Amino acid sequence: MKSIITALVLGLMNTLAAAATLEIVADGRRLTYTESQLLARRDVQTLSIEDSVYQRRFTRFKAIPIARLFEGLSIPPAAVIQCNAVDGFSVILDQARLFSADPGASKAYLAIEDPKHPWPGLDGTPRSAGPFYLVWTNPQASRIGREEWPYQLASLRIVSDPRAAFPRAYPAAGTPSAVTSGFQVFRKNCSACHKMNGDGAATIGPDLNLPRNPTEYFDPTALARLIRNPASLRTWPGMVMRGFSEGAISDSELADLIAYLRYMSGTKTRP
Ligand code: HEC
Repeated sequence: MKSIITALVLGLMNTLAAAATLEIVADGRRLTYTESQLLARRDVQTLSIEDSVYQRRFTRFKAIPIARLFEGLSIPPAAVIQCNAVDGFSVILDQARLFSADPGASKAYLAIEDPKHPWPGLDGTPRSAGPFYLVWTNPQASRIGREEWPYQLASLRIVSDPRAAFPRAYPAAGTPSAVTSGFQVFRKNCSACHKMNGDGAATIGPDLNLPRNPTEYFDPTALARLIRNPASLRTWPGMVMRGFSEGAISDSELADLIAYLRYMSGTKTRP
């Protein structure tokens, strides 16, 4: 009996281990890759990356230029790429940044963990950033933010018409420019973890409008403080959100972000 259970458990573990795949999803198309399929490609390079979540502790990655993985797929001009991690982290990247061919810009790669040479664990856990991790060379050039390095990736999805896909997160046409630029700040830095009005795929933090918008219960100074350094307001061991320095979000961007949040509190719509 015990050996049957052991066999079943081992079988299940093999199935789970074999299930490490990356999906690239386009309108009407779905491509699925395993680590070994990607590692066998001719365009795999070895990169030295110092700004990853591992910092200088671990720097050698096997990687493919991300644009190569989207060759042959139709990407409409307004499209954005939604990068979904296994834990509910989901960041939207602009295609202009992700696929830039400008040698002076940051360049995105998909790093692939070789099961034979596993990467180190993250934050003292055995779980690494793999098997699929989006990394950048020269990240300062295009001001790549911390949230734009999604790790433990499960899928990359072409969202052809983001306004139609996330209608409740966009400010209406004709809103003041502070609000629309605040929306860009939100999308780059916050939407990976927070939904807005129910829109988005993130499930790590609370929705920032429903049922209550933080501008309704934090005064602007407290909210700005929370964004800069959440632990300066309240701390507990399991807290997840980290602060955003002026290098990541400038003072004027922070003011725009708060203007956007305040504006959104007047546009509550349930999905
Ligand atoms: C890596 C994920 C992550 C990112 C990125 C992130 N947050 Fe959070 N945030 C959380 C989580 C999770 C919480 C709940 C508290 C905790 O665990 O830290 C939270 C809490 C908050 C709260 C407090 C809500 C409440 O009522 O207690 C606010 C406000 C907030 N975040 C705003 C933002 C803004 C604005 C940004 C972008 C500048 C942002 N967050 C980026 C994960 C994130």
